[in-house]
Amino acid sequence: MPFYHTLGQIPPKRHTQFEKPPGPAGAVNLYYEQLFGTIGFEGMSSLLYHVHRPTMVKAVLGSVDTTPVLAVEKNILSRKLIGFNLEPVQADFLESRVPLLLNKDVLIGLAAPTRSTTDYFYKNADADELLFIHRGSGKLRTLLGTIPFEYGDYLVIPRGMIYQIEFDAGTQPRLLYVESHSPIYTPKRYRNQFGQLLEHSPFCERDIKRPQNLETHDEAGDFLIKIKKQGALHSLVYATHPFDVVGWDGYNFPYGFSIFNFEPITGRVHQPPPVHQTFQTDAFVVCSFCPRLYDYHPKAIPAPYNHSNIDSDEVIYYVDGDFMSRNDIAPGHITLHPGGIPHGPHPGAMERSIGKKETQEYAVMVDTFRPLMLTEAGLQIDDGKYYKSWIE
Ligand SMILES: [Fe+2]
Repeated sequence: MPFYHTLGQIPPKRHTQFEKPPGPAGAVNLYYEQLFGTIGFEGMSSLLYHVHRPTMVKAVLGSVDTTPVLAVEKNILSRKLIGFNLEPVQADFLESRVPLLLNKDVLIGLAAPTRSTTDYFYKNADADELLFIHRGSGKLRTLLGTIPFEYGDYLVIPRGMIYQIEFDAGTQPRLLYVESHSPIYTPKRYRNQFGQLLEHSPFCERDIKRPQNLETHDEAGDFLIKIKKQGALHSLVYATHPFDVVGWDGYNFPYGFSIFNFEPITGRVHQPPPVHQTFQTDAFVVCSFCPRLYDYHPKAIPAPYNHSNIDSDEVIYYVDGDFMSRNDIAPGHITLHPGGIPHGPHPGAMERSIGKKETQEYAVMVDTFRPLMLTEAGLQIDDGKYYKSWIE
């Protein structure tokens, strides 16, 4: 996140001696500094101070290939996936993930976990992760602090961040997740040259949920970390607890943002999808469709016009409320509109939008610049008839 944040204790000057509380007489007793960036030494980074060396690997237990099984590599059909047909499974947030759509830049999937993770830690070394909390609440615990989350939250987790997810008892979590091989940022056009979010941005720094309550565990033992790299999940045993940071500062940290804090941009006539943009990467954008007043020109048509997305695939995940431009849509549905075919409102949607004053829809859109492939799991929840649903 392009602003400065700090938690815990840090020395007054970087790269200098930072002493632990006094130990045995004469012993050098310093914290271990780690620069944590994701783009060499040029991107955003943070400086962390560990109780123990962050490099102490005790054992490598093995690897599991997590490459999704593809069903359709060259897709030309518009599709509707019935997301809630994925039943909750007796698994945590990582084990319950079901990849549905992917290309070489991004992977999009759903998860319906039933339990928290307590016996291992997770790190994605391949990709930044964007989680959208559709149902459930809990805590994202990371080595840089904790972010409480609830319905409607996006969680942005830069690659390499060690974390666990705990769900509150009694909730039935459902998550949309996106793994991005290029960093996930807020849109550049909403930031000034210093990174500050500008006045015309639909959200600002106050809306960002920063990590809090830094956990510092000074424990030796066997700590299992599952590291995703090159599509494989490697199990490593670390010699000390991975959450052993006494303090950190910098710009590279996980954060949360609630879709309910997205302030829609509206106009006298229909505004194009980029006004809903929330995140950007080199390979896709993420937009938030939120309740808003409709266009107020006396002859306005609030439903969108047909448009050709010749150079992108459009994925919409429907969260709640009536989605105004489509028929027969329910929470948890995912529509895919591949590049190459124009798309637009369903029959009747344009007409019924005229004269309406507002919409209560919530949806998350992911537009990828490269075509998406469909996995076997995705095909199993595909309704198979959506592509014909514009014929009256
Ligand atoms: Fe569209």
